[in-house]
Amino acid sequence: MHRLYQDALSKFALLKSIGIEPHEGQRTVLAAPERFKVVVAGTRFGKSHLGGQWATCWLFEAHPPTRGWIVGPTYEDGEFEFRYLWDWLVSPGKLRFKRANYNAKGGDMQLVTDWGSELTVKSAEHPKGLGGEELDYVIMAEAGTTNKRIWERSVYGRLSNRQGEALITGTPRGSDYYIELFNNGQGAKPDWKSWRFPTGANPYFPREEIETAKRNLTPEMYDEQFEGRFAQFEGLVYKEFNREKHVGEPLLVRQNGKIVSFKQIIAGVDWGYTNPCAIVVMGIDGDDNVVVLDEWYHTEQSQAQKVAAAKALRDKWEVSHFYCDPESPDDIAAFMRSGLKASQGITEVRRGIEIVRQKLRKEADGKKGFVMSARCVNGKREFGAYMYAMSRTGAKKEDKFTGDQHFLDALRYALTSVDRSRRITVRTSG
Ligand SMILES: Nc1ncnc2c1ncn2[C@@H]1O[C@H](COP(=O)(O)OP(=O)(O)OP(=O)(O)O)[C@@H](O)[C@H]1O
Ligand SMILES: [Mg+2]
Repeated sequence: MHRLYQDALSKFALLKSIGIEPHEGQRTVLAAPERFKVVVAGTRFGKSHLGGQWATCWLFEAHPPTRGWIVGPTYEDGEFEFRYLWDWLVSPGKLRFKRANYNAKGGDMQLVTDWGSELTVKSAEHPKGLGGEELDYVIMAEAGTTNKRIWERSVYGRLSNRQGEALITGTPRGSDYYIELFNNGQGAKPDWKSWRFPTGANPYFPREEIETAKRNLTPEMYDEQFEGRFAQFEGLVYKEFNREKHVGEPLLVRQNGKIVSFKQIIAGVDWGYTNPCAIVVMGIDGDDNVVVLDEWYHTEQSQAQKVAAAKALRDKWEVSHFYCDPESPDDIAAFMRSGLKASQGITEVRRGIEIVRQKLRKEADGKKGFVMSARCVNGKREFGAYMYAMSRTGAKKEDKFTGDQHFLDALRYALTSVDRSRRITVRTSG
């Protein structure tokens, strides 16, 4: 559908005409073509301002007129975005409205332009009000504090008919679904894009306040509130995992065509049919540092297809051994029959997690204990969303998990199986 104010340049021009200049971070988001945009940012980054900017562009659309919502955990949360619109468009009389209601306490905040484009503030506390309408766009404000149900049950479906768009914003306060949505936008799903911005990306925010906050807050709280990082998040299993630090293109050294960077190259295998089957290839160097080279991650694959995939990985990466989930002896036997070196891997969960965490933490002589190739998109996604389940009282359960764990299990089987830290060392007396 042709829309007048939906390409980047016309958005910027329209906003400029009413005196608004999005800052660089905001411009990046406004210009992105993806349908679902997730912004995780520090406090005062300009999230509400951005929501106001985006909604302004939609309100000006007239052929046909548009309909949108701002959904907050409460009406007061959605009011921040709404107040910007009020100050920019209603108070100065920039636009003619058929209806312009502003009553936050009564839950009545709505704008309807002369040509019928309308915007309404909704509250997750009043799910009854979230029924019925087809939407062109929705702003989920303070998304970290609303729950998955609201997004999945009450909002997402409203966007389907008109192929509507969503702008999902908040500070990284830990609700697991918000991390999941963020991860969707990091390559896991095509229609999604996500960004993480620090408070300092807002040029209108005083620099010295950031320094003051750094001195006054705990590092975790500073990371969450001013850097926009999900640092505080208790439930994450691999808290140490950091995309900037652990994802990159590994440099491989070859001699006569053979990879010589590692003392061994192995793979872990997590079987699955309805769930994905994951094969994860990694190199281990002389200091036991791990470099994840490749992943194969597919649902509904026959045994023959899994064998073929493993052979292709073996040939490509010189994989010497496949450590497999013992759950499926039949598949392991098929690997062996076809000439692959394969055996049951060690599946002890706690020990395996601890081994992976040690690698993530390790940094010695300028070398990282763990690096993963950026081609492992499922690995990146799983690392960011694998969590301990919470009991109803909010306590962490040590042996129950949420989030996908196919890549992560495959990785764990292989690393636990070759871990030397617990092997008995034979001493010779002398
Ligand atoms: N493009 C802009 N032009 C001028 N001022 C801006 C712009 N973006 C943000 N600001 C200013 O920066 C401050 C923070 O903006 P805003 O309230 O939108 O941040 P926020 O990220 O929603 O904050 P919070 O974490 O408190 O919800 C406000 O004073 C706002 O007016
Ligand atoms: Mg805000």
